[in-house]
This record gives sequence, structure tokens and C-alpha cells, in this order.
Amino acid sequence: MPEKPKLLITRRLRDAVQARAARDYQVLTNAEDRVFTREELIEKCQQVDAVLPCHSEHFSADVIAELPKSLKIIANHSVGVDHVDLAAAKDAGIVVTNTPDVLSDATAEIAMLCMLGAARRGAEGDAMVRAGKWDFWSPAFMVGRQVTGKRFGVLGMGRVGQVAAERARGFGMEVHYHNRKPLPDHMAKGAIFHETVEDLFAHSDVLSLHCPSTPETKGIINSKTIAMLPDRAILVNTARGNLVDEDALVAALESGKLFAAGLDVFCNEPGGNQRISALNNVFLLPHIGSATEETRDAMGFRALDNLDAYFQGKEPGDRVA
Ligand code: DGY
Repeated sequence: MPEKPKLLITRRLRDAVQARAARDYQVLTNAEDRVFTREELIEKCQQVDAVLPCHSEHFSADVIAELPKSLKIIANHSVGVDHVDLAAAKDAGIVVTNTPDVLSDATAEIAMLCMLGAARRGAEGDAMVRAGKWDFWSPAFMVGRQVTGKRFGVLGMGRVGQVAAERARGFGMEVHYHNRKPLPDHMAKGAIFHETVEDLFAHSDVLSLHCPSTPETKGIINSKTIAMLPDRAILVNTARGNLVDEDALVAALESGKLFAAGLDVFCNEPGGNQRISALNNVFLLPHIGSATEETRDAMGFRALDNLDAYFQGKEPGDRVA
């Protein structure tokens, strides 16, 4: 029997995923489940043929330059691949894959949670009850914004964006979107296409971000673009923190230009942004968009499927480089 390929799994995965990996690969794990330093990551990679990382490990061009020739594939446990320099990986002859589709439902659920938490002041209400500070009720108390009948703007109508749009329709919202190209009717399902970001923003009572982080989209939410939103709009971000200029976001939340924001992602992760956390009109989560039992299993299996394909001499289904 040929020797099983050597695989570095950088973070603790769910038991069933670990078990399958251990069955088919010689696995090097990270028992402490902490983020490796750059040096540790490079050092561990010297020992393996493949690596299965999460978005927490950064394969920048300078890290990739120090990877051994023996390392053939980076099979990510994430749909986002902004933590990997794809051009550098391609130049180095390293195959890169991701895990699309399987996390769309879970992430769209979190987008709805963020939207409702922000619109209906979920964090503020929860904190008040927990702290024993709920000592008053009146019709004017804790009044939020209703989403039913409002416009749900989707920036990036890919897989997650489309599911989020579907869920928003369930709340009676009218869906608007901006993409590079309009979707065919059977995928758009009545969503209104806007050719420009400006036009989408002007039509979004709730703006939900579902685009990847790229040099073009970094900081796409800034003081100029926030000004294009209707007054008292709500921002939802379940994609990547660096799509948002957080100083501009804080200013808009403080001035009331934005009614609220629901955020699952931040520029600084883990940790977040203390200026944002200090505000009342935010609903915040610690990057858990895909964190369900079903989805984390599916992501792990999908990454293993990509590895299996590669080591069987086939084209991995989710190759991005
Ligand atoms: C993803 O898949 O990109 C999620 O953000 C989790 O890493």
C-alpha cells in the first residue's frame, strides 16, 4: 500500500472530520488549537505534503516563498481565501481550494440574526434583562425598526448573498443587489439589479455585505459610501471585516446616519473593535457565520474531498488556484 500523504491540520476540526482525516492521511494536528505564529506555520509545513488551514492562518507571498517544494496543496476550511496569496501560490505550483456552497445557509442565517439583532435592538435588550436593569415598560420603550416591507440590499449576490436574499424575502423585504453582472432570472428571483454600488446603496434600507475581500472591495464601506445610504439604514456584515472602514462606521453610528449595525466580522480578529463594542446600536458576534454542527462537518468533509481528489490525481472540485 502506498504511504498515506502527510497532512497538517492547523486547527481543531470536528470529531468526524478529524476521524476521516486520520483514516486517510498521516495527520499532524494542533492539539492546543491556537493560531500558529508565522514561523511555526512555516516550520510545520516543512513536514507535510498538504495543509488544511482555516482563515486564521495567513499564507502571504513571503510565507509561501518559504514553503517546501514537497507541499502540494492548501485545502482551505473556508470559502473566503483572502488569507492566501493566490498568485504567489500559483507561481509556486501550489494548488489552493476552498469550501463553497456548504456554508451558505448557515451564513445567511447569521446575516438574518445580525439584521434583526440590529434592527430590533437585540443586544441592548438582552443586556438590560441580564443585568437586572429592566425596570420599566411603555409603548415608547425599546422601539426599533421593522424590517418587513423594507429594502434589503445585497452587495455581492453570490451563493451566500442569494440565500440571504431568499431569507429576507421571507420577511417581506424587497431585494436589491449589485454584482458585476446581473443574475439570470431564475437566480435573481425578482431581485432588482443595480449597475453601480452607488445606486444599490441609495436603495438599501438594510445593506448586507456578501462580497469577498479583494483589493477592490477593501474599505468599500467608508464615509463617502455610507453617505449614499438612506438615513437610518442598517449595515450587516457577515463577510470580512476589512470591507468596512470602522472609523467611518463608528462616526455614522454615533451621528445616527446609520440606525444600527449587525456585525459578525471585524478588522481585528479575534478581539473586535472596542469603539464599536462601546456603542448601544450594534449587534455583535465573534465570526460565527458558518459555526453550526452541520456546516462545520460539511466544510471539513469538503476540504477532505478536495484533498482526496488531488491525491487521486483528479482535479479538486473547488480549486481556486
Ligand atoms: C469562511 O468560510 O470564509 C468563513 O469566514 C469561515 O472561515
